[in-house]
Amino acid sequence: MEAKKVSESFITMNELVLPNDTNTFGNLMGGRLMYWMDIAASIASAKHCNSPCMTVSVDNLSFKNPIKIGNVVHIEAKVSRAFNTSMEIFIKVWGEDMIDQHKYESNEAYFTFVALDQTGKPRTVPQIIPETKNEILLFEGALRRRQVRLILGGKMKPDDANELKALFTKE
Ligand SMILES: CC(C)(COP(=O)(O)OP(=O)(O)OC[C@H]1O[C@@H](n2cnc3c(N)ncnc32)[C@H](O)[C@@H]1OP(=O)(O)O)[C@@H](O)C(=O)NCCC(=O)NCCS
Repeated sequence: MEAKKVSESFITMNELVLPNDTNTFGNLMGGRLMYWMDIAASIASAKHCNSPCMTVSVDNLSFKNPIKIGNVVHIEAKVSRAFNTSMEIFIKVWGEDMIDQHKYESNEAYFTFVALDQTGKPRTVPQIIPETKNEILLFEGALRRRQVRLILGGKMKPDDANELKALFTKE
């Protein structure tokens, strides 16, 4: 299976915040944004491995700035690292006030998706080739983030988390 560049999975998604998308403060509801982020991650992961994919984990989400009704939501998603059957997808979100022409950061997050075969079983995905400085940084940090989420998800024992241990062990 041939490795693919990060840029090959890169996608952008734009949405307009309408009244049905908001909370009682007139800002975009967190749940609606998470829904759009999940869709963006799903498209980026399917673009990387050319098969249907399923969300298996979502990392911590902190909302830095609210996105106001009438503003545009910009979502960027790309695969930051591929493992065996799973992929980490990095998502970045901005809001934009088209009238004031002001763009502001909303949040970023890591989603993990698993590629599935026709019987619904996890299948192997192509490896990823990071090219830019930012892509390499994301790629290198992905092993540590994977171990944290596997421990939290009850899929790995803390004693087996060698990448995390290395952070705290002096040579
Ligand atoms: C996704 C699913 C098919 C995987 O099945 P599984 O029996 O857990 O398979 P595995 O244990 O072999 O895990 C498959 C991959 O997911 C990864 N994974 C499993 N749990 C994980 C977690 N909590 N965080 C990150 N990765 C995880 C594994 O590390 C493995 O990746 P790898 O092959 O790259 O090493 C199954 O967990 C499932 O159906 N989950 C529900 C998904 C869903 O409904 N999503 C929509 C949300 S409503």
